[in-house]
Amino acid sequence: MNRISRRDLISSALAFSATSLAARSAWARAIAFHEGNKSGEEVAAGFALSPREQLLFDFGWKFVLGDGNDPVKDLGFGFGQSDFSKTGEFPFAKAGFDDTKWRPLDLPHDWAVDLPFVHDDAGSGDSQSRSHGYKPLGRRYPEASVGWYRREFDIPANDRGRRIWIEFDGAFRDVLVFVNGCYIGNNENGYVPFRFDLTDFLTYGAKNYIVVRVDARYGDGWFYEGAGIYRHVWLSKMDALHLGRWESTIRSTISGDSATLSLETIVENENIHAEQAQVSWRILDAGGKQVASAQAPIQKIDADSSARFSTSAHLSSPTLWSIEEPHLYTAIVSVSAKGTVRDAERVSFGVRSVQFDAQKGFFLNGRSLKIQGTCNHQDHAGVGVALPDRLQYFRLEVLQQMGCNAVRTSHNMPTPEWVEACDRMGVMLMCETRQASSNPSGIAQLEAMIKRYRNAPSVILWSIGNEENELQGPMAEQGASIAATMVRKCHELDPTRVVSAAVNADNRKGISDAVDVVGFNYHLEFPDAFHKDNPTRPILGSETSSAVSTRGEYTTDRQRNVVDAYHGVYELPELWWKFYGERDWAAGGFAWTGFDYRGEPTPFGWPSVSSNFGIVDLCGFPKDYFYYYKAWWRPEPSLHLFPHWNWNGKEGVEIPVWVYSNLDEVELLVNGVSAGIQQVSHLSHLEWKVKYEPGVIEARGLRNGKVVLTEKRETTGPTASLRLTADRNEILADGEDVAVLKVEALDSQGRIVPVADDLITFRVWGPGKLIGVGNGNPNCQESDKGSSRSLFHGLAQIIVQSTKNAGEIQIEAVKRGADLQGSLSAKLVITTRQVELRPSVPAAR
Ligand code: GAL
Repeated sequence: MNRISRRDLISSALAFSATSLAARSAWARAIAFHEGNKSGEEVAAGFALSPREQLLFDFGWKFVLGDGNDPVKDLGFGFGQSDFSKTGEFPFAKAGFDDTKWRPLDLPHDWAVDLPFVHDDAGSGDSQSRSHGYKPLGRRYPEASVGWYRREFDIPANDRGRRIWIEFDGAFRDVLVFVNGCYIGNNENGYVPFRFDLTDFLTYGAKNYIVVRVDARYGDGWFYEGAGIYRHVWLSKMDALHLGRWESTIRSTISGDSATLSLETIVENENIHAEQAQVSWRILDAGGKQVASAQAPIQKIDADSSARFSTSAHLSSPTLWSIEEPHLYTAIVSVSAKGTVRDAERVSFGVRSVQFDAQKGFFLNGRSLKIQGTCNHQDHAGVGVALPDRLQYFRLEVLQQMGCNAVRTSHNMPTPEWVEACDRMGVMLMCETRQASSNPSGIAQLEAMIKRYRNAPSVILWSIGNEENELQGPMAEQGASIAATMVRKCHELDPTRVVSAAVNADNRKGISDAVDVVGFNYHLEFPDAFHKDNPTRPILGSETSSAVSTRGEYTTDRQRNVVDAYHGVYELPELWWKFYGERDWAAGGFAWTGFDYRGEPTPFGWPSVSSNFGIVDLCGFPKDYFYYYKAWWRPEPSLHLFPHWNWNGKEGVEIPVWVYSNLDEVELLVNGVSAGIQQVSHLSHLEWKVKYEPGVIEARGLRNGKVVLTEKRETTGPTASLRLTADRNEILADGEDVAVLKVEALDSQGRIVPVADDLITFRVWGPGKLIGVGNGNPNCQESDKGSSRSLFHGLAQIIVQSTKNAGEIQIEAVKRGADLQGSLSAKLVITTRQVELRPSVPAAR
């Protein structure tokens, strides 16, 4: 067997054929980070996390739809009054329950992607189905809105005495958990991690049964939220003397060429006797070399009690975390008693300084930096909200390629892998909670988010909410009080970061009174006056643009629900960026949105099933606006010409030809004849009007009088061949990793056909499976889970996931058509390499 470690894959990861080398190596480092819960260097340094076990609990579940109204169709749950009357009597979570007809699947899972589209605009405002991209979820669809998951698992006899927890990174929504016939607990909201202590309910040395009921009838947002256990699940086994969850903090203060690390944690003693505990910290640099260590004095911790431990360490010449070099340190925090390590964890952190200044904007490590941000929801083509980890990196790579240096997790606590990807790739985060409230649930959500991510160097700002119109208007007094309580909570849990909120108003009252950084959503008429009247309050464009455009469309057509690439709707990129990009006092801003997302098809409705706000579409294929940002957000020379030049039937009609470029001047040629040279004006675009004639248009970009870049658009013939390419041609055989493939239609001369809409069928065989298809068309109602997809303006995407067997995945894309003799096809092979798997809960014997 060709067995290699994940670490060996770094070199192959670096060889992938994409532009972002840093992004590739970030993914490779992430892979290494997960390997057996430790990196190769740490093993070499003699560290192992044992005795704690953190087991992935994603594989081998079974699933069935229940019913939100009828208990008979819902496993009998809720049929009698006595469901919760006794402990241990739920039959579906016990031995002997027949789940043979349930569907086997692995997590993460979003069953909403599987559902058909349904045209339902009933009710006032946004119907639940419209918000969910016309998926039949919500109270009107009880038969499609409840899902049951079941899994059998073994607990060895020698686990007796350990504390065993089940941890969910997030599930949508209203979750009930049952183990061995016993009701264990519930969780309402769809974004916050939750966990349950199973220790008392487990059967040691035998088989155990867990059942999770997920009820997606209510919503947390107004956008597609999916349905199901769509993030990872873990089984954690630890000593009764252990570190508190998310209680370890590493805070750095930089002074000159060194940094002081304040180290803190909480140790919990769930034993029936007191313990003498000692905590130690080892600090490793990105290469795994120990660069500092510290110990806190021994403390006695009584039974069922906890104690806080703190100390400090010194780092000389630390390598700072920055967007160019996202250097991460690791702290290994371990607690021991009587000379034995009883629990340990790895905490990744960075050394960096962040400052929001009311007059000078934003600073990272003392250097002025504009926040070039995008807001993003969490769904992707093909998979809904159930993203394999690798897709988080893929999405950030796309955003980085246009110069995006920050993302806002609108409007909810993100999944850990998104934050980890930001840490590793050098993307800053405005991390936002879902419920803007000081009620117990709102505070619990906020607390979970801050504790979970307060060591992440990418997080530069907390956000306590988005567009709380009541709390800014009629309830402004309550808004100020609620926000003040939330901001106090943020500061208490994390004294190192400031707090903002995304406000769609003038920020003169309500929530705005309490925040450290004033966030404006849209309304470019407000910030100047606010700044003048409040010269000590830092300002940020928390949400801007909502430009709206449909990839590859150059005429707005309200019958076809498409918006052209030139004029958008709302704030065009150059409008908002000229505003925030040119004011020294403004920290920068976040465009709505980086990626398209399902639901909220504004300004349209049915049959549009996803939004048009993205700078890239749901697959990550760039729209033309992408190149505006690329020109003005990235340093290297850039030139982009549009539209395409396939305007059959429009001969002699004037077509607007635009260029986004950061060069000095650009000349446009039409079939070799100059249509004129234009000077580029800062943060703007160039525009010509050209009478269409088939052939070629060419832009020549000049700097200092010399042509440095050229771009052509040519009139192509029809589809004559297909091309399949992948983001990576080698992935891990771990049952989790994915390759993201692009399908392109080419004409007989090998040119991309920008108007192709051919239906392509896919075949995948070997050790892999097709887990989703997409094309970025917001009006396409083909299934994301089918084995075919139409091209949209020449492109489609397919996502292929490995199994745990190494080998070669063969992928074939085929176009069949009456106009063709036989069929066109393209083939690609993705190699999957054997790796050491992350520790996970094995299948029950
Ligand atoms: C904003 C809101 C976003 C999204 C956007 C669409 O007001 O914060 O969630 O709905 O509008 O333009």
